[in-house]
Amino acid sequence: MLRFATIARRTVPAGLALALLAATRVLGADAPSGRGVGPITTVELGPIDAAKAKAGATVFETKCSACHKFEERYVGPALKGVTQRRKPEWIMNMILNPEQMCREDPEARKLLGEYMVQMTFQNVSQDEARNILEYFRQMDSGGTPAK
Ligand code: HEC
Repeated sequence: MLRFATIARRTVPAGLALALLAATRVLGADAPSGRGVGPITTVELGPIDAAKAKAGATVFETKCSACHKFEERYVGPALKGVTQRRKPEWIMNMILNPEQMCREDPEARKLLGEYMVQMTFQNVSQDEARNILEYFRQMDSGGTPAK
């Protein structure tokens, strides 16, 4: 009995370590870039463009505000600070390709697990998604909600 306990104490942690190692290998195979999955691979950021941000705010009001607020959790996450916690490419891919993001991107998968609602593609063009990103940047640099 004592001997079994000793063996178990030695082998169980070793087994766990191996399993962890294997898991890291599998995940490492497609190591997340933090840019998400979707059509956007690079975004050039300049100073905040007020006209773009304004256009983005309009799209946001129509297509996103049913599920998102900035200050508080709603159907989806509160969006305040999103440009600090995510890369610009990630944000645009989430807007343009939410279903695949929630299947394949580790951070988006976590959100789906937490919110239990699949964000759906809102028929937003790449330009519109870029404008929304600009609106988020403006909000995160002290702007006020459009409405
Ligand atoms: C039907 C409700 C719904 C609509 C409409 C919606 N979202 Fe979402 N959104 C969610 C949910 C829920 C999540 C969390 C991921 C998931 O579960 O799909 C999310 C996640 C996000 C995230 C990631 C937030 C974070 O903390 O990283 C961003 C950015 C986002 N949405 C932007 C938008 C934009 C922009 C629009 C409009 C074009 C939009 N969403 C429309 C429900 C919605």
